[in-house]
Amino acid sequence: MTYAFLILLAYIIGSIPSGLIVGKVGYNTDIRDHGSGNLGGTNTFRVLGKKAGIIVTLADILKGTLATLLPALLNISEVNPLIIGTFAVVGHMYPIFAKFRGGKAVATSGGLLLGLSPLLFGIILLSFIVMLYVSKYVSLSSMTTGLVAVVASIFLQDQGLLILTSILTIFIFYRHRANIKRIINKTEPKIKWM
Ligand code: G3P
Repeated sequence: MTYAFLILLAYIIGSIPSGLIVGKVGYNTDIRDHGSGNLGGTNTFRVLGKKAGIIVTLADILKGTLATLLPALLNISEVNPLIIGTFAVVGHMYPIFAKFRGGKAVATSGGLLLGLSPLLFGIILLSFIVMLYVSKYVSLSSMTTGLVAVVASIFLQDQGLLILTSILTIFIFYRHRANIKRIINKTEPKIKWM
């Protein structure tokens, strides 16, 4: 019962469509009708600019962090925060408040890892920045960083994190199917500001 309650709460937190809220309220725009059509920070940057992009990215990260901290905040010790947090990512990808058309799991997964292992978060943040600098593809950097998270979990010898990062990376690759096709066809847009 406790598990079901926390999983539902994490899913609802993950479902908060920050990209949709910022787009509609601040710019009268549904970002899913523009750019890549994704309800995430990258597409918000692309469609609405830097300020909106930063707000949405931070909000999406926060959703993941908050979900992993739920058991501690509610003083419930008999649940695994890794399992609870995973459902925030499910909510972010398939939000009940946005007709199940959500994001690609990246920022919220990052937030999850920030709540669980700041060290791992630091590693993936660095990996993302380096990959983005080298490739100029956000999508490729996101997927590579997912793989780096798995490898780093092996080095950290943390079985829970290894299972979690493996699942999150499968989510990330699955949600980037269209990006993978575009990268292969050389039609994926590169960022211009780095
Ligand atoms: O976080 C999502 C990013 O990796 C790709 O987003 O909008 O370019 O498909 P987008």
